[in-house]
Amino acid sequence: MNKLPPISNEDRPKGIQRIMSLPNKGLKALWDSIIIEEDQKHRLLSQAVLNFTMRGKVPRTVIPLHGVIMLTGLPGTGKTSLARGLAHRVAESFPKDKFRLLEVEPHSLASAAHGKTQRAVTDLFAQSIAEAAAIAPTIVLLDEVETLAADRAKLSLDANPIDVHRATDAVLVQLDQLAEEHPNLLFVATSNFPQAVDQAFLSRCDLILEVSLPNAEACERILKDCLTGLGEFYPAIGRLAQDRKFTQCASACVGLDGRAIRKMVANALASDQKTAMNPELVSMDALFTAAEMAKETRNAGDKQ
Ligand SMILES: Nc1ncnc2c1ncn2[C@@H]1O[C@H](COP(=O)(O)OP(=O)(O)O)[C@@H](O)[C@H]1O
Ligand SMILES: [Mg+2]
Repeated sequence: MNKLPPISNEDRPKGIQRIMSLPNKGLKALWDSIIIEEDQKHRLLSQAVLNFTMRGKVPRTVIPLHGVIMLTGLPGTGKTSLARGLAHRVAESFPKDKFRLLEVEPHSLASAAHGKTQRAVTDLFAQSIAEAAAIAPTIVLLDEVETLAADRAKLSLDANPIDVHRATDAVLVQLDQLAEEHPNLLFVATSNFPQAVDQAFLSRCDLILEVSLPNAEACERILKDCLTGLGEFYPAIGRLAQDRKFTQCASACVGLDGRAIRKMVANALASDQKTAMNPELVSMDALFTAAEMAKETRNAGDKQ
């Protein structure tokens, strides 16, 4: 049995926000809570599983996998949750191995003192991540990767561009190196702005999956999930999922992302002080109005 030296979260290396052993029940719940087409979840999981079954066997001259999966899409569509949940699902698929999840904090690297970003990136990848991958199968979350792998072609000459340029160079060099040496490693990156991510990074991704806004059926499921979840604490709210106006209210959510749907439910509970004091007073009409308002705010934002 492979023994893992515990990496405590207290002495975690710079640039790593969190280290978790897998599988993890909380991450399972996260994966299950994100409602997207089953097909997309299957593709994501299969690509991640293949990473660990095949890369150790087949030379990169045959299939040049880098061990990088990228999720793109608008903010609030569930990318970060899916990426973290995916780590759990992969670990669960290999019950004999002790997988770990490392969550990188790109902003802390990018904000390193002037001229030091490149060094910080190199240390993180070549030391911390390489060491972890040498010990046990490792999944690394690169959330909001545009901060780390900014598109060099679009960088203007103000705002410390040389440093950012070098940081992107360092990420690419390190990804190539790790791909050669560590088949037991998978990066899952996310970005709200894939157009701001360097082309060379995108070309290294084994799969780029766009997570879209929920369609009508998904909106219905998300709203139902939210109301029944609240129903555990406030039974009257749970019953709204059976209301005859429920489907109509769910249709009013089309155009919102999953996060916005759940937040608009909270807004409805806060539509007046009485309801805020006793959330079970919330009505279907209040939900409907909150959904319409959330969409108006979004549309106004889009026009700016
Ligand atoms: N498709 C979805 N189905 C259900 N809930 C969702 C969905 N998308 C987002 N959410 C909700 O929004 C929260 C935030 O999502 P997150 O993963 O941070 O999105 P992103 O990283 O794309 O901005 C999730 O924890 C979840 O509650
Ligand atoms: Mg996110």
